[in-house]
Amino acid sequence: MTKSEHITFRQFMLQEHRRVGVTKDLIFLLEDIATACRIISHQIRSGAFSGTLGATEDTNVQGETQKQLDVIANDQFMLHCANTSRVAALVSEELDNVVWQKDAPKKGDYIVYFDPLDGSSNLELNISVGSIFSIVELEEDLSSTDDAAVLIAGQKQVCAGYALYGPSTSLVVTTGDGVNGFTHLNGTGEFLLTFPNMTVPAATNEFAINASRQKYWYPPVARYVDECLHGSDGPRGKNFNMRWVASMVAEVHRILTRGGVFLYPVDTQNADMGGRLRLLYEANPMGFIIEQAGGKASVGGSRILDVAPSDLHQRVPVLLGSSEEIDLLDDYHNS
Ligand code: AHG
Ligand code: MN
Ligand code: MN
Repeated sequence: MTKSEHITFRQFMLQEHRRVGVTKDLIFLLEDIATACRIISHQIRSGAFSGTLGATEDTNVQGETQKQLDVIANDQFMLHCANTSRVAALVSEELDNVVWQKDAPKKGDYIVYFDPLDGSSNLELNISVGSIFSIVELEEDLSSTDDAAVLIAGQKQVCAGYALYGPSTSLVVTTGDGVNGFTHLNGTGEFLLTFPNMTVPAATNEFAINASRQKYWYPPVARYVDECLHGSDGPRGKNFNMRWVASMVAEVHRILTRGGVFLYPVDTQNADMGGRLRLLYEANPMGFIIEQAGGKASVGGSRILDVAPSDLHQRVPVLLGSSEEIDLLDDYHNS
């Protein structure tokens, strides 16, 4: 297909404006985020030349060493999200506190949460990494800019998405009425609609988990994986395949493309932190996208999107993907 057979991101979003009332302010914000992602994509691809593939000497609030590109990607998100007058606050994996853009946020203003670079341990390996974002619209004026005001459950998201920096750069977005995937046409600056109405098949025979953590698993996850590994001889009666990229964005993109489940459960080693992945800018946006594509997203027995956040950088268990498998995992957690 040629460019003319695919509509642009802007054309698509304006269709959504007319079809389901996506606001122009949200479209402007998404275009700014798309710009940030295009620049980050370029920075990653040129990292070997500019000497930016390695680490910095700093650690972030998570206690993780920051890569140079973590910082570069964060700067791009901060710069481009601040361009939209309706943005009240920014929350980043790489920043300790909320960055308020307004002294008196109003009803209808946006909070933007983001993981500017996900899977950054893969950077030097030239394996896919991504950016993840989540957008909440304030339902009332805020009386103060206390950081606790941004602790809003995932079910309130009006938009979520990610960019995947792989062999091509993908932008996948939901505004609450399905999931659509765009591909950057190199050299044009355009994201074109290439994967409309992405859906997660209900059944699958593929799972993703970091199996090196097996000795830490709690019984529900240990049982689930054990039954998958027994394949056609076990209670599942079919063989399973396993994948682990260590970039959640790449795992979610695979699940949106051909089904599967991605599991980063709470275990005995990460229990005091609540899990591995962060609620506001990893679990919530991916949970929203997966649900909008017909899949399910759970902390183990209940929805990720129902979790009431208690901390900016809170971690939660993440079990998401094909609905039949997540239902089974929920049953194992609830029985
Ligand atoms: P980040 O690079 O933003 O810190 O996130 C990495 C996350 C996620 O993408 C991935 O699934 C997981 O960490 C990998 O964890 P392991 O190192 O335990 O495999
Ligand atoms: Mn991440
Ligand atoms: Mn990150």
